[in-house]
Amino acid sequence: MGMDALPRVLVLHGPNLNMLGQREPQIYGYTTLAGINAMLVALGQELGVEVETFQSNHEGELVSKIQAARGQAAALLINGGAYTHTSVAILDALLAADLPVIEVHLSNLYKREEFRHHSYIARAAIGQICGFGADSYLLGLRAAVNIIHRKQ
Ligand code: DQA
Repeated sequence: MGMDALPRVLVLHGPNLNMLGQREPQIYGYTTLAGINAMLVALGQELGVEVETFQSNHEGELVSKIQAARGQAAALLINGGAYTHTSVAILDALLAADLPVIEVHLSNLYKREEFRHHSYIARAAIGQICGFGADSYLLGLRAAVNIIHRKQ
């Protein structure tokens, strides 16, 4: 990273989030993943950070992306999708990454089925934002930038 490089925030989207816009829109809204990513990049420009986004339906790919972020990204925003509730591997990768982690979800997990009430990711996160639709990501990015600035 050069002296004048902006801090980078990595945004990870887990399984089925590539289907946003078509997938259960009454729960997840009509905004597509491309739409969310464009809003994140625009807000990042406004707030002075570079936003990199990545989506995968594969647990191991998410683990590898988290590993590669160590020492490269200044903060990590993650919507783990269903892996939130199942993946010790993603939890361990986040703990090893040594980065500020912010967990986000479109839906309010606590209004939904019991199996969505537990998050493995939460153990590695500074905090969790859920229930605000696409805005959860934008609020999460603002939280990430505040944390980055506090550290500098
Ligand atoms: C989700 C909530 C998860 O329970 C679900 O499996 C998802 C999306 C959300 O953003 O609301 O895929 O992470």
